[in-house]
Amino acid sequence: MKIVAVKDFAEMSKMAAAKISHQVKEKQNSVLGLATGGTVVGTYEELIKDHKQNQTSYEEIHTVNLDEYLGIDKDNPNSYHQFMMENLFSQININPENIHIPYGLATDYEEESKKYEKVISDLGGVDLQLLGIGVNGHIGFNEPGTSFDSVTHVVELEESTRQANKRFFNSIDEVPTHAITMGISTIMKSKEILLLVSGKTKAEILEKVINEGITETIPATVLKNHPNVTIIADEEALSLVDDEKKREFDQDKEEFSNKYILAN
Ligand code: F6R
Repeated sequence: MKIVAVKDFAEMSKMAAAKISHQVKEKQNSVLGLATGGTVVGTYEELIKDHKQNQTSYEEIHTVNLDEYLGIDKDNPNSYHQFMMENLFSQININPENIHIPYGLATDYEEESKKYEKVISDLGGVDLQLLGIGVNGHIGFNEPGTSFDSVTHVVELEESTRQANKRFFNSIDEVPTHAITMGISTIMKSKEILLLVSGKTKAEILEKVINEGITETIPATVLKNHPNVTIIADEEALSLVDDEKKREFDQDKEEFSNKYILAN
C-alpha cells in the first residue's frame, strides 16, 4: 500500500485527478470505478477543468459507481445518480450508455445485485477504482463486519453513516436506511485502487487503517491485501500518524508526483 501525503484537500484533489486523467489517456476504453461524497468532489472539479483545458476525452470510458441509496429514484436530487450527473458526467464527454450505477428503485434487489456484478465482469473488470472512506472504515457502503467475500449486495446503513451523510439532506429522517453497494470482493478485484482521505474527521480511522491488522471490523484494512493500492491523504487526515511513520511515505509521494502531473 503506497501512501501519498499531501498538504490539503486541494492538493489531494489535483493529485487524484492527475492519476485518473493519466489512466484515461493511457487506456482510452478504461473502466473507472467511481465514488460519491464530499471527498471526491474536488477531484471531479479538477477532471472537468482538465477535460475543458486539455481536451482529455471520456468518449470510450466506461464507469461503474460503487453504490446507490435504496428507495429513491434516479432523478431524486439526493440520489448518487444525480450526484454523479451534476458533479461530473454532465460536464465531460462521456457516453451516457457507458455510465453504470446500481438502481435504487429496483423491484428485485437480489436480481439487481447480480445484474450489477455481471455488468462489471462483462466490462472486463475495473481498471482504476476511486474510493473514499467512512468514519467507521467503510468502503463503498460495506459497513464494519461485512464479509471480505461479499459481492454486490443490499446493506443497512450504520447510524454513523446516516449521520455523516445527513449534510446532503434536509433532515436525518430523509437519509435512506439502506443502500446497494459493490461488495468488498468486487472492489478488491479492481486492477488498481485509489483511496482518498481528507480532514480531521477521518484522522482516527486512517490511523487505524495504517497501523492495525487486517480485520473485517475495519473494512478498509482489506486494501492491505491488494497489490496495487495508493492512499492520498492530507495533513489533517494523517494528524494521528506519528512523524517517524510519515517519513516512510516520502518516497511514495515523490514517485507519485513525478509520474502524475496535471497540465493546467
Ligand atoms: C460513496 C461511498 C462512501 C464514501 C464515504 C466517504 O460512493 O461509497 O464509501 O466514499 O462514505 O464519504 P465522504 O467523502 O462524504 O466523507
